[in-house]
Amino acid sequence: MEQSTQNPESAQQNQDIGQGRGVYISTYGCQMNVNDTERMYSLLEMQNFTPVDKPEDASLIIINSCSVREKPVHKVYSEVGTFRKMKEKNPGLKIGVGGCVGQQEKENLIKNQPMIDFVFGTDQIDSLPNLVAETFTGPKERRVNAKFEHRAPYHIETMVRNPGVATFVNITKGCDNFCTFCVVPYTRGREKSRPLQHILTDIQHLVKRGVKEVTLLGQNVNSYKAEEGLDFADLLAKVARETDIERIRYTTSHPKDFNQKLADTMAAHQDKIMEYIHLPFQSGNSRILDRMNRNYTREHYLEKIEMLKKTIPNLVLSTDIIVGFPGETEEEFMDTVTMVEQVGFETIFAFKYSPRPFTKAAKFEDQVQEEVKTERLNRLFDAHDKMAFELVKRYEGQTMKVLVEQADREVGKVQGRSTGNKLVHFLGSQDLIGKTVDVKITKAFPAVFRGELIQ
Ligand code: 5AD
Ligand code: SF4
Repeated sequence: MEQSTQNPESAQQNQDIGQGRGVYISTYGCQMNVNDTERMYSLLEMQNFTPVDKPEDASLIIINSCSVREKPVHKVYSEVGTFRKMKEKNPGLKIGVGGCVGQQEKENLIKNQPMIDFVFGTDQIDSLPNLVAETFTGPKERRVNAKFEHRAPYHIETMVRNPGVATFVNITKGCDNFCTFCVVPYTRGREKSRPLQHILTDIQHLVKRGVKEVTLLGQNVNSYKAEEGLDFADLLAKVARETDIERIRYTTSHPKDFNQKLADTMAAHQDKIMEYIHLPFQSGNSRILDRMNRNYTREHYLEKIEMLKKTIPNLVLSTDIIVGFPGETEEEFMDTVTMVEQVGFETIFAFKYSPRPFTKAAKFEDQVQEEVKTERLNRLFDAHDKMAFELVKRYEGQTMKVLVEQADREVGKVQGRSTGNKLVHFLGSQDLIGKTVDVKITKAFPAVFRGELIQ
């Protein structure tokens, strides 16, 4: 095994390596991975690989893996297992593993799974073309490149093949918060911010390609830092003022870093910055929050919510929650249920705690039994359902500004997003795609609305 290196002499050869070869990328996990997959496809297309829809048609298969919750290594192995037959038929087929499992397991994947030809880490996407070229043409050996790049600032322009109406733009990578349940600081490395001017230029390029809405993306966007001493609120204001993008969203925020300045910036630019915030609280109990190393209490979180609701009219909130964190008692779990009700989240993303390698909480001795976690998760969803269906009824009869994103599965209909990030389906022609229109809501469910176009 050797570490892949950039070799300028192989550049020409690199460019033709994909000629007559199909590439298939299987993507798991978060929006970061979806963006990384786009980048991989873009780079491999420059080597003349052809993206294919079925792994059977590929000469190169890449698994862009996720390790945030599930049993990720098993998933990678089982997926590689399904490709085994294809490799038996086509010995030239190469299989690579990238993403968070690649970063986490590195050489172990190669040791334990003979079908895998190469492994690359989350900081090594830009060296993928070299790694692939070496795999196809270099000495017959299996390769690993999972180095972290420590260079800051972080240079990575957006590479997306068909950005459509709404797309994502990375602004930070990695995380320094070390929540005790989370593997991200280990799989994505230390936090790095992109230079502010690069982000603005990137967005302006996307606008020229027809993009109307961008979501600024980072594990913890609130700790974005530009070289000029500017912070995330300054970045948002500049995107609003200095680019022609119509709509701006961002994710994910950390409650400890969400401040009045950011809320004021959103309010000051409410024509462009959408009134929606995803603000994970993880647990409604302060003792559990402390054990999670979240650096806020239940009371602090609720104070921030009050401040946000006061500052941003019509604010819509969603959140992430973990149930069954080690040591969580029944009473402490109920604090999470009451938190959901008290804040009035229309959408929640809730998960059973899952021990992750390297993390502190995985070593806590008071792990909660699987059945208890399952039962708590079900109760949380039931409580939320009861509340959310009622909560969103107030939208029925209201008119919303909807940015039309694409044709609906139902013929004659289109779908788009309201300013509050609700998916809205309505009868309308495809020429509306890319336009912002008024839609009267006729039926509201917690995550999806139906409506009528107001001509
Ligand atoms: N177990 C369960 N959920 C987790 N998340 C992150 N790590 C874990 C884990 N070990 C959840 C958190 C986070 C979301 C992206 O995934 O709620 O906000
Ligand atoms: Fe993970 Fe916490 Fe960082 Fe989010 S803030 S990526 S939960 S360590």
